[in-house]
Amino acid sequence: MNDFCLKNYIRERKQMVDRQIDVLLPQPEGPSGKVVEAMRYSLSAGGKRVRPILMMAACEAVGGDFKSILPAACAMECVHTYSLIHDDLPAMDNDDLRRGKPTCHKVFGEAVAILAGDGLLTYAFELMTHPDLLSRVDSATVNQAVSIFARAAGVHGMVGGQTADVLFEGRPIDADILSYIHRHKTGALIRASVEMGALLGNGDSGEVERLSRYGTALGLAFQVIDDLLDVVGDEDKIGKPVGSDERNMKATYPALFGLEETRKRALELKDEALGNLAEFGPEAEPLRAIAIYVVERDR
Ligand code: IPE
Ligand code: IPE
Ligand code: MG
Ligand code: MG
Ligand code: MG
Repeated sequence: MNDFCLKNYIRERKQMVDRQIDVLLPQPEGPSGKVVEAMRYSLSAGGKRVRPILMMAACEAVGGDFKSILPAACAMECVHTYSLIHDDLPAMDNDDLRRGKPTCHKVFGEAVAILAGDGLLTYAFELMTHPDLLSRVDSATVNQAVSIFARAAGVHGMVGGQTADVLFEGRPIDADILSYIHRHKTGALIRASVEMGALLGNGDSGEVERLSRYGTALGLAFQVIDDLLDVVGDEDKIGKPVGSDERNMKATYPALFGLEETRKRALELKDEALGNLAEFGPEAEPLRAIAIYVVERDR
């Protein structure tokens, strides 16, 4: 796959995910229509769809059919989007801009934004039981994927990381705490995306294990670069405020190590991620390209 073009690949996969999200999400109607409107607003505001694309790429890397796991890929984007809606709330990072648009609570108010997050989280698990998925993947494998997903989203994953992130604002931290925060608040869902893709694509245990390590390194790299972009990024490109972390006195890689060390760490993590793909052939080319993209991205 020497002529592999990540730009086209991402564009095509993103279109597919965007279309599926539109089809799979409920329509706003009745007395509670507002919450669905808010869910759709945040979902369609434009994210990069990195997690669903990773899930489908991991499925392909083990020889699976990525189209058969689209409901799971969309479910992951629902949980990620819920995490962003809650992350932006005044009680958390208090940000007004997300995906280039006013944040959910700015448009719909805090109560509906909180509920939109709750709605996305629970709808994700409804999607994990979607007939399109259950008819193509055996139910024991889907069960395993649901278990990985729930653990990565909850207190052992994203919610745990977000809790530490908020509780350590303005407090002295060391490299271990910083790594804990980042591996949980962001790394967990990224690793789960890759693991779920590998499992749902019927990868064997060795493949799932290697891809899980790829996902662990990539997940941390992703947040290291997110921290960097919060300092040196362009608001028009990242679609969210620059300087949010400094304002909130967050524990970040640039704050603890400086910009140069942060870049170096991200590159090391990219190499670690790529190392875990060594035994895969050309079918893992998208995962390789995504690892490079994650550390070179400007948005
Ligand atoms: C932002 O994630 C929040 C983090 C976990 C770092 P993304 O950078 O993937 O945001 P979107 O989905 O493209 O908006
Ligand atoms: C958030 O980390 C991780 C989440 C679980 C949402 P950040 O607070 O750095 O994410 P951004 O920069 O607001 O997207
Ligand atoms: Mg945050
Ligand atoms: Mg934030
Ligand atoms: Mg950030």
